[in-house]
Amino acid sequence: MATIPKDGKLDSSLSLLREGNHFIPRRCQRHQSDIFQTRLLLEPTLCLHGEAAARLFYDQSRFTREGAAPGMLKKTLFGEGGVQGLDGEAHRIRKQLFMSLMSATNIRELAELASEEWLTAIDSWQRRERVVLLHAVQEIHLRAACRWADLPLYEAEIAKRCADIAAMIDGGGGGGIGWRYWRARRARICSEAWVGDLVERIRAGRLAVDKERALSRVCWHQDADGQLLDTQTAAVEVLNLIRPTVAIARYVTFAALALHEHPQWRQPLQSDASLLDSFVEEVRRYYGFFPFVAARVRDDFTWQGYQFTRGTRVLLDLFGTNRDPRSWQDPTTFQPDRFIRETANAYNFIPQGGGEHDTNHRCPGEWFTQSLIKVAIEQLLTRMRYRVPPQALDIDWSRMPIIPESRFVIDQVEALPYGQAGQATGEIQES
Ligand code: HEM
Repeated sequence: MATIPKDGKLDSSLSLLREGNHFIPRRCQRHQSDIFQTRLLLEPTLCLHGEAAARLFYDQSRFTREGAAPGMLKKTLFGEGGVQGLDGEAHRIRKQLFMSLMSATNIRELAELASEEWLTAIDSWQRRERVVLLHAVQEIHLRAACRWADLPLYEAEIAKRCADIAAMIDGGGGGGIGWRYWRARRARICSEAWVGDLVERIRAGRLAVDKERALSRVCWHQDADGQLLDTQTAAVEVLNLIRPTVAIARYVTFAALALHEHPQWRQPLQSDASLLDSFVEEVRRYYGFFPFVAARVRDDFTWQGYQFTRGTRVLLDLFGTNRDPRSWQDPTTFQPDRFIRETANAYNFIPQGGGEHDTNHRCPGEWFTQSLIKVAIEQLLTRMRYRVPPQALDIDWSRMPIIPESRFVIDQVEALPYGQAGQATGEIQES
């Protein structure tokens, strides 16, 4: 039996918090291995990296999700009782709810709603001294997602709901025991209470919503046992649709940053659809902000001579696998046309998980994500001019989740009427 390389420390939780995205890939490089063992939160943990390891990780006969996600993540990012922690038949039935909402019509409708919200927002930005793009796009996506789901959202509550959802995303990753974590915990409690109340009112016939839309579909979804979800779980699943749609604003922020840092691609992107597709995928690969996913060994087995013991927690490195030089040429550079030349598959390109959407835990929101990043790029390139004033655009790659320090500030926004699109240069060039 081969010996799994060991990360020497008694407990590496602090190193994980300090090194973030780099924690697993660095150690794999140090040990020249796709696997090493460590202790996180005082628990023995195996860390996996690379395409072959991803193929193993998404073999459901080997791993279970039950009890895999750390409690801290459930109290902030995911919530308790959601699809992320289910296995087998219970997972298949719940996942089907999400997958059935991802029809081509639904994807197009969300894109149209987002485009409308962008236009309204751009108009209002013309009267603002500066706009913090991350925050502004979070609001655009929240408005669009709630309209798409037919979830009532009153003007007076938008700032609060948006701030809470943003806090869950920002604090779930690596706030540790600090302020970001506690803010995220409070935000989850408030958000679940908000959506839970809507669920109860709908079920009691006191709130009428469109039966075909996501909010109603979750409310009346029958689980594997033929029962409706309890109120809290229903709220968790509704938030599993709304929260990550708001999180796409992070990718939009990175797309804006990439356009700013690689302005030579602005013009070609307006006329070449396959380049636009490739650009979006490169944003998801290069700026991956979900560092890893967790599972537990279902039963003892060996892989490549290494022993996996039942119940052991296993982490799969998403960030590092997307930058593995065995799969990607010059992986630490941003190359917008990379996906035209190189081959992605369900295990070497895993910014939102890998494997099959229907049967594995792979993110059902990938089509929404690609589509909303595209909507945003179109708006940034053709519907507005703006300036990127001097600011701190550095990314701390060890922060979980990553984000440019300034959150990408723009000013001097000018809306462009439809039709000028072809001529637009988008960003105002400094003279
Ligand atoms: C910012 C964009 C997004 C990122 C980075 C992201 C990332 C991820 C990741 C890493 C997973 C876990 C995969 C695994 O466990 O193997 C996941 C699962 C999931 N995502 Fe996303 N996601 C995004 C957008 C979305 C959207 C837009 C939706 C819904 C509209 C969504 C809903 C879900 C759900 C419900 C799961 C759980 C699936 C399961 O357990 O079977 N995500 N996502």
